[in-house]
Amino acid sequence: MVNDVNLTPVRWIKELKGKSYPQLIEFSDGFRYIVKFKNNPQGTKQIVNEYIGCQLAKHLHLPVPDSKLVSIDQSFIEQMHGRERYPFTSGRQFASLSIKRKKRIKKEFPPPSSIVNTDVLPGIVVFDHWLSNDDRNRNNILLKRKKRGGYCVFIIDQGNCFPGGFRWTIDTLREYPRPIRKRPFHQWILSMLSHPDELNRYIYNVKQLPESLLWETITSLPDDWNISWDEKSALFNHLIRGRNALEDIMYQVVRNYH
Ligand SMILES: Nc1ncnc2c1ncn2[C@@H]1O[C@H](COP(=O)(O)OP(=O)(O)O)[C@@H](O)[C@H]1O
Ligand SMILES: [Mg+2]
Repeated sequence: MVNDVNLTPVRWIKELKGKSYPQLIEFSDGFRYIVKFKNNPQGTKQIVNEYIGCQLAKHLHLPVPDSKLVSIDQSFIEQMHGRERYPFTSGRQFASLSIKRKKRIKKEFPPPSSIVNTDVLPGIVVFDHWLSNDDRNRNNILLKRKKRGGYCVFIIDQGNCFPGGFRWTIDTLREYPRPIRKRPFHQWILSMLSHPDELNRYIYNVKQLPESLLWETITSLPDDWNISWDEKSALFNHLIRGRNALEDIMYQVVRNYH
């Protein structure tokens, strides 16, 4: 993730619907980003999860919007005027590039033939199980309309990953990795699989990520998000234990969904 010191907020546009009070803001590069703030109503761990989730998804080549760490100060926060006074605090915030020409999944999932990136979908099921993210509901999936036809699936909002979600503690992270609750989106993806090897390829990819990369991802969290050394170690250990258990977990998942 680019920790972009040159990227500054120029215009607050509006608040988006979401429990973390995400804000749509235009930045000095001319693009619009969805910004989630420190000390949002779900707490700063919500953006810790977003940051780690997006970084790891990128390393696995999964479809997440580009994201950046940006600095926003108190004077900018004070002139945003959404539904109520914000408890946000100045400093480093999490920004994801706003996806244009997007639509949400309403009732039915789209026909697989209309999706242009079906090859990466099994990776999302593996990834959500690795990170214990059981919040993969319709609101956290976007379909980007491609100019040449069809849709590209994007996953957003990793804020609820890890046991305990945005309220995780060193204790909840000690929980033994286990399958998350059944999700219709995962069901839809699994129903398209022609062979379990499509999952195995991603289990392998997760296991191939160097430990040093996982540790660097965690230690690159901004200092002003106040995650202690022990908490960082607990996150790291959870990722390692989660991936050691991933074959077993995915075996159970495939059986459960049949
Ligand atoms: N990168 C993005 N591009 C376009 N729209 C987005 C993006 N990120 C979030 N949104 C929109 O903002 C809404 C809230 O974002 P989300 O990350 O789910 O917030 P919360 O953590 O509060 O649930 C989403 O349902 C989606 O409509
Ligand atoms: Mg959400």
